[in-house]
Amino acid sequence: MLRISALRLLGRRGARVSLSEDFSLRQYSSGPLGVRDDTRDSRAYFTTPIFYVNAAPHIGHLYSALLADALCRHHRLRVPSGAATGFSTGTDEHGLKIQQAAAAAGLAPSELCDRVSAQFQQLFREADISSTDFIRTTEARHRVAVQHFWGMLKARGLLYKGLYEGWYCASDECFLPEAKVTRQPGPSGDLCPVSLESGHPVSWTKEENYIFRLSQFREPLQQWLRGDPQAIIPEPFHHTVLQWLEEELPDLSVSRRSSHLHWGIPVPGDDSQTIYVWLDALVNYLTVIGYPNAEFKSWWPTTSHIIGKDILKFHAIYWPALLLGAGMSPPHRIYVHSHWTVCGQKMSKSLGNVVDPRTCLDRYTVDGFRYFLLRQGVPSWDCDYYDEKVVKLLDSELADALGGLLNRCTANRINPSGIYPAFCTACFPSEPGSAGPSGRAQAEDYALVSAVATLPEQVADHYDNFQIYKALEAVSSCVRQTNGFVQRHAPWKLNWESPVDAPWLGTVLHVALECLRVFGTLLQPVTPSLADRLLSRLGVSSTERSLGELHFLSRFYGHPSPFEGRRLGPETGVLFPRLDQSRSWLVKAHKT
Ligand code: MSP
Repeated sequence: MLRISALRLLGRRGARVSLSEDFSLRQYSSGPLGVRDDTRDSRAYFTTPIFYVNAAPHIGHLYSALLADALCRHHRLRVPSGAATGFSTGTDEHGLKIQQAAAAAGLAPSELCDRVSAQFQQLFREADISSTDFIRTTEARHRVAVQHFWGMLKARGLLYKGLYEGWYCASDECFLPEAKVTRQPGPSGDLCPVSLESGHPVSWTKEENYIFRLSQFREPLQQWLRGDPQAIIPEPFHHTVLQWLEEELPDLSVSRRSSHLHWGIPVPGDDSQTIYVWLDALVNYLTVIGYPNAEFKSWWPTTSHIIGKDILKFHAIYWPALLLGAGMSPPHRIYVHSHWTVCGQKMSKSLGNVVDPRTCLDRYTVDGFRYFLLRQGVPSWDCDYYDEKVVKLLDSELADALGGLLNRCTANRINPSGIYPAFCTACFPSEPGSAGPSGRAQAEDYALVSAVATLPEQVADHYDNFQIYKALEAVSSCVRQTNGFVQRHAPWKLNWESPVDAPWLGTVLHVALECLRVFGTLLQPVTPSLADRLLSRLGVSSTERSLGELHFLSRFYGHPSPFEGRRLGPETGVLFPRLDQSRSWLVKAHKT
């Protein structure tokens, strides 16, 4: 029997395993696969973390799911319709944390899981998360996948039995070395050991477990990350993982005594041990794509994991090592985001400051709250939440700027015919210098056309860099520019009856509607229902809403426009109502 501690592995190491049977790191040395290569291949699979069911969902959980949803929806806009795109989310239901939470609530673990998993499912339905699968780790299909995966590691000589002695943090479900543990006064005033990172209590554990030969994977992991600088985005997280890998990797205990942890998947052939919940949870990404049936191979590794920074080590070290160990490739991309705090404080049940996402969806509408979180959330650093910020942003960008623009350009008084007006090339020639006597466009108008023409590409680049907030900032800036264009030419002062005014009036409206069509198309991943209403109002059919079909202002570029002369869609009211400052909940929020 071997004895390991969280700090140091004592005793004999197993023979080195060959990683080259099914997987070759050579595929990474040919350079990173950019997202553009991905889209050429077009099959893609996005995942959210699976959520613990010890407590109800909060806005941080919703944020993880929204980032994945927006990335996935944007990918769908880029690829030919019908291209296969998978998107999974779900709940992480096993482990000590859940076992203890159920006991504290006086429930059977399965009851707690059913209850809280249903809350996540309902939240994601309400929030328009477009996942194609919702996995629960208590499902039979998952047990099959985990036990098969375990068998692969075992068959490859990567598991051995040893004595684990060290700290365990049930809240974070992780083993901690002494250096990551500190002492803090507990409820009775005594000093209690807690995790340095999370502040959660830890306890000393000493038991015989199965151990995974994680230490053997340090070099392959370094090779993977050095060969693909985009494997983990944003870059600082990639760098962090490489720094972690500068240190020795201790082997990892991957099971617990069943007498201590009964709520989990038993080790195949050894009922006295339960599989470590992180190994169990990570395999969910394979279960969803049909593992161990061969079909999973068409999805792996075209996978993009979206995760919070607190679970980086599990996804960027343990998971790729486990995959390599089982003869598979690491995931294609790991997108990492930071956390939401509330009024400057960490969100926590004990502080009583947990923000309920369903209340927010109710108050700000689904599209409004989605827009807020994705526009304000910056993956590289923590962001602070407070109600006034939401109101200010949504009123200014969705209600006033975007809604106002649509209203100005489609209102009956300005466009009584309800038709997508014609573009006059003599008024707005493609060459600024070639304008004849009817030329009316100014330098700023050309700047607007050029900004909106390059917007889809710019937005795609921001999505590739996991900077959805920048994509939205770019859209918002073009909306402002378009409002400036309309303001400059004041179409309400022009007269449809005048042969001099009419072609220019039509052109101003045509350009503004074309800009709105681009904004509506690009906003679909973030505000799907608002974008749908906007595009429907412009008369854009469902087959004309992909990036491939965009063809912005084709008349300006000398091509026919399918929209010119088309009837606009029916008037459906205000695009995004201003959040009335007199709402009672807001007054209350101001006072507190
Ligand atoms: N069950 C594990 C994940 C297993 S994945 C194989 C877990 N669950 S969790 O419910 O604690 O967290 C799920 C996600 O929510 C993580 O990505 C985490 O970073 C994210 N968030 C939790 N609190 C958060 C904030 N306050 N802000 C933003 N996201 C946060 O970890």
